[in-house]
Formats: sequence, C-alpha cells, structure tokens
Amino acid sequence: LNYNVKRDRRFILEILFNGLRRLEYRGYDSAGISIDSSSSSDPNGQLSFSPLVFRQEGNIDSLVKSVYKDVASIKLNLEELFCVHAGIAHTRWATHGEPSPKNSHPQTSGAGNEFLVVHNGVITNYEVLKETLTRHGFNFESETDTEVIPKLAKYVFDKATEEGDQSVTFSLVVLEVMRHLEGAYALIFKSHHYPNELIACKRGSPLLLGVKELSEDMHSGAPFLDLKFISENRHPKELFLSSDASAIVEHTKKVLVIEDGEVVHLKDGGVSILKFENEKGICGNALSRPSSVQRALSFLEMEVEQINKGKYEHYMQKEIHEQPESLTTTMRGRLKRGGSTKAKTVLLGGLKDHIKSIRRSRRIVFIGCGTSYNAALAARPIIEELSGVPVTMEIASDLVDRQGPIYREDTAVFVSQSGETADTLLALEYALENGALCVGITNTVGSAIARNTHCGIHINAGCEIGVASTKAYTSQIVVMAMLALAIGDDAISSQARREVIIDGLFDLPNKVREVLKLDQEMKELAKLLIAEQSLLVFGRGYNFATALEGALKVKEVSLMHSEGMLAGEMKHGPLALVDENLPIIVIATRDACFSKQQSVIQQLHARKGRLIVVCSKGDAAAVCPGGSSSCRVIEVPQVEDCLQPVVNIIPLQLLAYHLTVLRGYNVDQPRNLAKSVTTQ
Ligand code: G6P
Repeated sequence: LNYNVKRDRRFILEILFNGLRRLEYRGYDSAGISIDSSSSSDPNGQLSFSPLVFRQEGNIDSLVKSVYKDVASIKLNLEELFCVHAGIAHTRWATHGEPSPKNSHPQTSGAGNEFLVVHNGVITNYEVLKETLTRHGFNFESETDTEVIPKLAKYVFDKATEEGDQSVTFSLVVLEVMRHLEGAYALIFKSHHYPNELIACKRGSPLLLGVKELSEDMHSGAPFLDLKFISENRHPKELFLSSDASAIVEHTKKVLVIEDGEVVHLKDGGVSILKFENEKGICGNALSRPSSVQRALSFLEMEVEQINKGKYEHYMQKEIHEQPESLTTTMRGRLKRGGSTKAKTVLLGGLKDHIKSIRRSRRIVFIGCGTSYNAALAARPIIEELSGVPVTMEIASDLVDRQGPIYREDTAVFVSQSGETADTLLALEYALENGALCVGITNTVGSAIARNTHCGIHINAGCEIGVASTKAYTSQIVVMAMLALAIGDDAISSQARREVIIDGLFDLPNKVREVLKLDQEMKELAKLLIAEQSLLVFGRGYNFATALEGALKVKEVSLMHSEGMLAGEMKHGPLALVDENLPIIVIATRDACFSKQQSVIQQLHARKGRLIVVCSKGDAAAVCPGGSSSCRVIEVPQVEDCLQPVVNIIPLQLLAYHLTVLRGYNVDQPRNLAKSVTTQ
C-alpha cells in the first residue's frame, strides 16, 4: 500500500487487515504485518521512520487484537501522516515450521528490521543459503525457508555499502537476492534503509499490482494506462500488491499481472518495473543494468459482491447455492440452438484455432489435482464417446514424479480452479517441454495456467472463496462436456446425441435449482451421521467421480474419514468393511450402469450395510431391496447421463456442509488446507 494523501495510521492498518481477511482462504494459521512508526525528527526536522513488526499465531482477528493492544499501550501511535507510507502484511499456510509468531511473516534480517520480507512459495535451496549466512555471522530464529531472504538482502546491502557503494538502490539489492534463490516465490520487501519504498518480485507464484488514482484529473475513463503514466509522482494514488485479486478489487479494478522475473519498485508513490536477468551482481562483479519494462494495465472482471457472503453464513454455503447462476454464466454465449440452420452447436472461442489439432491428437491427457482432477474424471466418458480419442487421466504430482510419457501428438488438458496450483504448473512445464498441445481450463483469467497454455477455456464460475471447491467443480464438468461437444462437432453419426446434450445443458440450471431443495433433507441426514467415524461412497461410470468428489468434500471439511470407491471394485476388498454400523452412500441414478448398481445395493444389503442411495426421482422402490424401509433414499432429478454428475454431487456437497457445521468445524477454513496450493 502506498499513497500520498493525509491519512492516519489506523487507515493503513485497516486496509492491510482487510486485505488479509480477503486472502485468509489462502492460508490461515498465522499472520503478520509491518508498518512504519515515525520515531524521531532528524536534524533537518524530517520525521524518520522505522518498521514495526507484529506477528501472531491464529487467524487475522488474533493479529488485529494484538496490534491494537500495542496501540493502547502507545507502542504504536495512530497520528496522521501526510506522506507516502509503505506497509506489508501476510497470512500464512505453513510449509516449513509450525504456525507460531516466530515463523510468521514478515520475516526479518534481524534486530532493527533492516530488511523485511513476506513470501508465498517455497525456497528450495534455503538450507545451503542458511549455512552460508550462518558462517557470515547471521543468527536464525525461525524454522522457515523464508528467513534466508531478508538476511541475504542485509548481507548484499552491507557488502555493497562496505565496498563504498552508498547509492545501491533497493531494486539492485533485490535483484542480487533473486540471483541466489531457487524455488517458487512471490516476495515483497520492505526496508528500514529505504523508507517509502517497497519491492515486489516473483518467480512461479502469482502477484498483482493494483493502481487506484485518487485525483479527479486522472485518465480514469481510459481502458488502458501506460506504466509511465502511473509512475509519475505528481498524482496522489494508492498502490496495492497482492497474490490475489480478491484483496485488491474493492479498491481498484486496474491491475497489472506481474510476470516471472519482474521486479516492481514502488517508490514515493511511483512505480517502475525491471526485468531480472541472471547475471553477476553486487556480490560478484558489477550488476549489468537491468532492463526496464513498460506494460499496460488491464481491468479485473471481478465484482466486490462476489467476495462477500451475501445472505449466507459461509462462503461454501453461498457457493453451493449459487450453482444455478454460476452454471448459467459458464455456458453464456457458448451454446447455440436455433438460428437459420437450426443446428445446435457449441462455440468455444479460446479453442477455435486448435480444435482440429485436438481432434487429430493421438491421445487426450487430463491433468489436475483434487477436485479439478475429479471434474476431469467425471467428463472423461463423454470426451471418449464424442471424440473417439483415447483419454487418460493424470494426477499432476504423479505425472511429474513418474516423468510419465507425454508426446508431441498428445493434447494435454490442464484443469485448475485457481490456475496457480504448483503441481499442475510443473506438469504443464513438463508437457510443454515434451511438445504436447496444452489446453488450460481455469477459473482465473490471467493465471499462470491460463497464460502458459497454448489455448483454453475459462470456467467463468465467478470467484470461489470456500476452500472446498463446489461451484467450480460443476462448472468444470460443464466446460468439459462442452469441450467434448466441440471436438465431436464434425461427426454426423453423433449429432442427435450432441443435440440432446445441448438441450440438457440449457435445462441444467433449472435441475440444479430443483436439487438444491434437498438442503433440509441433507441437514437431517447430517444429524444422523454426525457422530460417525467413517463413510463410504460407491459410484461407477459417470458417477465414479461423484463418489470420489463426494467423499473428498466430506473428509476435507467435516473431518470425518470418508472414501469414494469404484463400485466395480467393491467385491475386491471394500466389501470386507461392510457391517450394520458403517454408513454407505451408493450413487444409483439411471444410466447404462443402473442395473449393475442395483446388484451392488443387493449385495451390500445382504451384508446388512447401512445404505443411503442417491437415485433418480421415482426410483426409490427400484433401488431399495425389500422396500424403502431398508435404506434411506435421496431422489434427484434425472438429466442426460453425462450431465448427471453435476446434479448428483450437490446433495453430497450439502451433506458435507451441514455435517461440518453440526460438528462445529470451520467450513470455509478446513484444518491444514489451503485453497490455492502454490507450493509443491
Ligand atoms: C487444493 C484445494 C482443492 C483444489 C485443489 C486443486 O487442494 O483445497 O479444493 O481442488 O487444490 O486446486 P486447483 O486450483 O488447481 O483446482
């Protein structure tokens, strides 16, 4: 944050706290903040500033309380400032070191807070750096990988000044630090030596710069602004750096997506951007002049309302209930029926130049993690059916671990809500190296996956904040069903099938609205299951993914052990678990696998299994052996088979939500998890 109009310090604190609250879904085990205290006047009457640091275990509110406690004890005064003020803050998801104040960010170079750093990502060579810095007399206090960064900055700064370079700039120090860092990072530096300045840089992890002009005479209506313009200091402005648009959107929609290797220098309200080039620097010989970058700002599509809970108590609840709307947005402008030819078709603008190559590929490989992987699994059968191309599935980390075969003739489809998941990004890098055609399916415009794939489709589900993905999952399935339709578009033989699916897609938001009416029923079921230790979910065909995703939702938020299983594998092991106590959900809606699921239910019933069956409306008698008293039935509207996973997952999302609330856990911030896993 950086501005030059008169404000008091509470304003600065509140902007930073609020930003942290917006980002809390990315990590919430500890948090920290640094702003400047005006300590004394120098001989010229100028106030001198030194950074204060507050760090706290727990959520943002614990940090807020601890900071204001210091306000009360006058360690921190809140007087008005009429100058640029640079503050930084961070909310953490622990990778190295347990959540604790000393492991929270900002991490510091030591006493006096000469250099402070907030970091997203992982520094993979931190042990070597730590050893070297320790030999140079640095004492380490935390167990984090991050602590090497501010200490390295101090080392570089001290070395340059010892050698008589009193004019070493903040950006040159950081450029030199970057030269030694390996791994993934987005960093913001603050320093006692450079008051009113911040440096941000990145490699691998996301970073945005937001620009808010505070003066009427700015070119506020212009769609794009040149960086040179925002660098001019004569107009008051606020500048925001964030790993995520949700912390910026309430202040401004004008943003610049920072690219890998760029170093953003905020100084006295102006901005300059340098490009990191890995050449010898201050610690070697003279650093060659880094090239400066000129870029245009772009506009965020996001609305502030999207990041509020509205009438709901939790984000997850809101996101489950807004699926009729998110699905409509996902399909908007992409489905065509009627018109002069009366043909029903799908238009996917982001793929139009590549669809023929996808059709010709030897294989389509879907790659993702967590819920995104499950969404691809749900879409796999329809892609196989309509494209005729073999489809394989890869969990991103596993593909990278195995260095599995990816060929030039492959189309690799990367599915990711955030577009920033580290494992998926690594797999993308690997597929690009191997020459595959890479397609991105993400919910985040401008994300690393969207930028680095050859082509793609945006999910357009709107901002998803609940850590457990819900509306992104159903929108991903719909996007992949549309992908199947687009690939198969040239086959006359499947035209009738495609048209039925397109009709089904048009009607899908209504069916989802209908299935959401099960909310109360799922709450009642959650009450019955509240004290269970474990839950199994069986599905097959289109709904194998529903079983995996339903179980994932239950375990990740309600902390109840839950496994999704392929019903076809039941006899090969899981059946041993079945008794009269273990609750088992079976997905048995009408499709080509229905009779097989009926027989699974029979076999579970014969072993006294406690059955909960998800079936198509009107099928209660057909699925319950010996009548509806033998099992609990959840009836859902029937839709086209390939779209049924979109409807079927909703009661399970509702069940996971209610189970969590009833069990007293935080549904939006499940223990140990983060929304966007930008570290390996
Ligand atoms: C994390 C989240 C999951 C998500 C997965 C993949 O584990 O908690 O909800 O499914 O990452 O994330 P992506 O953004 O790539 O879809």
